[in-house]
Amino acid sequence: MSSKASILQFLEENRSREVSGNEIAAALGISRNAVWKVIHQLEAEGYAITAVNKKGYRLSEGCDVLSEQSIRPFIHNTSFYSKIQVYKLLESTNLTAKELANAGAPAGTVVIAEQQSAGRGRLGRSFYSPAAAGIYMTVLLRPQESTETSMLITSAAGIAVCRAVQTVAKVEPQIKWVNDVYLDGRKLCGILTEASMNFEAGNLEYLVIGIGVNMTDGDFPPELRDSAISLAEKNQGEAISRSRLIGEILNELEIVTADLEKKTFLSEYRRRSFILGSEINIISPQGTERATALDIDDHGYLVVRMADGTQKSLSSGEISVRKV
Ligand code: BTN
Repeated sequence: MSSKASILQFLEENRSREVSGNEIAAALGISRNAVWKVIHQLEAEGYAITAVNKKGYRLSEGCDVLSEQSIRPFIHNTSFYSKIQVYKLLESTNLTAKELANAGAPAGTVVIAEQQSAGRGRLGRSFYSPAAAGIYMTVLLRPQESTETSMLITSAAGIAVCRAVQTVAKVEPQIKWVNDVYLDGRKLCGILTEASMNFEAGNLEYLVIGIGVNMTDGDFPPELRDSAISLAEKNQGEAISRSRLIGEILNELEIVTADLEKKTFLSEYRRRSFILGSEINIISPQGTERATALDIDDHGYLVVRMADGTQKSLSSGEISVRKV
């Protein structure tokens, strides 16, 4: 580990107190001068560090710069997530994760960006990703289960986010099929899962699960102002640690991926689905059809009753709740 990484880790592990340059130097076996230089480098990179005369250094309470060192302390099973790579700016964390996957990166690789210049949403849409205002993360998995079972990961990831948000922010998120996470009828988080298929072996080579959470408003553009919500807004403007929420999402994601075969998360998925029983529009390139949302089946498909009384199961797509 570089001196910078170890000093950052030391500061993260000692957030509750000041640590002197001497103490850091002795603990890490480096010179005080090297410590001093790295502290200045970190400050230049945006880390808020309180330096108290004689007592030493401490990461300020509100310092929320993302790094592997800031996230790791919140992860329970550290071996599941082999690599956590944090970037200042990426086009899209899903894109980078796919490049890493194609180059042989192991399952459990996590790619995070402070900002995305071309964040991607479902159905070819873009995802608003301004600097430091959200969580933009992608997890690479190489599932061993059948393709059919692995496809449930999309719904499972939605549940993982709901549970993590509930733990950290003490609110009760809901799901809009397929996997948008909502609070108070507005979208808090979107998930984009992409897969690479090995056609010869007939199985999935890898999956990347991209998760975007609105943490602060970051001045939502006009088209999102009524439909999107940030966690800070829900939390009376008080910021929530992104590192902690990322850690919790990763913990919950590990739990739900282990549960894919048994599908026990599906009952929670149904309970959190606010569209069930509602009149909906099914939106497709062919047009809009009216239906009633009845249930989520064991594949995570949405069971609907069409206007002519027939029942259908939708595996993917776009719906909106009709105001009646
Ligand atoms: C949607 O709401 O349509 C899905 C949005 C998914 C956004 C996340 S942010 C991290 C990852 N990288 C991307 O480019 N997209 C996903």
